[in-house]
Amino acid sequence: MENLKDKVVFITGATSGIGRALAVEFAKHNCKLFLTGRNIDELKETENSCQKYTKDIYIEKLDVSDSNQIKTAVEKALSTFGKVDILINNAGISQRSQVMETPIDIDRKLMEVNYFGTVAITKALLPNFEKIGGGHIVVISSVVGLFGFKNRSAYAASKHALHGFFESMQIEQPINNLYTTIICPGRIQTNISLSAITATGQAHGQMDEGQVNGISVDICAQKIIKAMLQKKNLYIIAKEEKWLWLIKKFSRNLFVRIARKVKSN
Ligand SMILES: NC(=O)c1ccc[n+]([C@@H]2O[C@H](COP(=O)([O-])OP(=O)(O)OC[C@H]3O[C@@H](n4cnc5c(N)ncnc54)[C@H](OP(=O)(O)O)[C@@H]3O)[C@@H](O)[C@H]2O)c1
Repeated sequence: MENLKDKVVFITGATSGIGRALAVEFAKHNCKLFLTGRNIDELKETENSCQKYTKDIYIEKLDVSDSNQIKTAVEKALSTFGKVDILINNAGISQRSQVMETPIDIDRKLMEVNYFGTVAITKALLPNFEKIGGGHIVVISSVVGLFGFKNRSAYAASKHALHGFFESMQIEQPINNLYTTIICPGRIQTNISLSAITATGQAHGQMDEGQVNGISVDICAQKIIKAMLQKKNLYIIAKEEKWLWLIKKFSRNLFVRIARKVKSN
């Protein structure tokens, strides 16, 4: 397995959940970390958790929906560490609202953060990958990047869009030795349902049963790194949610009938 020591890792949404757990796992591999997020206090918490494993950590405020902040963060990463070997596109927000009640502004917001934010950072770092002759981009999608689901229309659409973009890039291979791994988590124990956006634009503010009973975030982070090292194009980290994907491949009509009966929180 490839040695990750001294690799420079740029993570978005490193203030909590999967982003924070990945930061700690990469720190254990003695990587150099460029941790970004909207909340500096929470970024410092992540930094504290990583410091016993590595001293090479830089934190930077970054809202992925702000193109000026993306430009500044990428410049800072390159001037701090000279390069980025691994980009973890993790920042994202979920949704808890039905199609009928969701104004188009909410669809646009989810697209702006989950899709355009991810694509913008990726494009800003492509010249770096070209310069160093490769690297790895990890995209944290979702199982709802593989199938639609109740109360997740815009969220699922934003994750499906990521698949369209990164699958095309995998086929184009713009840079030799640049790999992309699309990760599709099912329910993971994080705060994602608390910050999920509702039809009014407010946060859902509830810890959903699915998250409470989900896969541990540390196990998820370990599996993500393993899938990356194995250069998987796509990797699913889920419990029974995986069945919906398999059923959809077999019969779309059957998938819709079964998915209608599955609880959405
Ligand atoms: N947990 C699950 O069950 C699950 C399942 C499938 C996919 N995922 C995906 O996994 C990724 C991480 O989510 P999580 O589960 O770890 O949830 P989380 O704990 O809520 O983390 C989400 C992260 O994204 C950040 N973020 C949100 N909007 C942002 C923006 N505009 N700019 C920069 N950062 C932003 C959050 O920062 P703030 O603290 O500033 O809000 C936070 O650091 C997401 O892409 C999510 O869609 C999660």
